Amino acid sequence: QGRMEDATVTAMAGSPACGDMIAFYLKIDTNEVIEKAMFESYGCAANIATASITTEMVKGKKTEDAWKISWKQVADEVGGLPAVKYHCGILSVGALRRAIRAFYKMRGEKPSWLPTELTVEEKHALEEEELAEALSKRLEKQ
Ligand code: FES
Repeated sequence: QGRMEDATVTAMAGSPACGDMIAFYLKIDTNEVIEKAMFESYGCAANIATASITTEMVKGKKTEDAWKISWKQVADEVGGLPAVKYHCGILSVGALRRAIRAFYKMRGEKPSWLPTELTVEEKHALEEEELAEALSKRLEKQ
């Protein structure tokens, strides 16, 4: 846990369910292998646990294999999550995917395995501005 100074990419993502944020850092080598993964969580204990497991799971993996990790796998690794905490795990995986997507955007590449459409996990892990907008809309409704 903590900031990574030599990260190749960083992604900030927030949960529309609770408004919590996470920063995900990846160091990716020229062979598209994830050398190092770190996170900073401003979320709950379940978010910290799932983000921590996610960084463990992706270390040494090709980006393509890291992409395939689902939030359910992550939840299983931490010994299961109660339904009210699903979004905390989804936020972790969504932030990871946003970071992987940012990596290819930066390189101006689009590997065939990378879907054009945002995955469910990414949609639930909003970018900072989207999160601010979603939360202000929610406040207006109250
Ligand atoms: Fe917000 Fe868990 S309650 S991340």
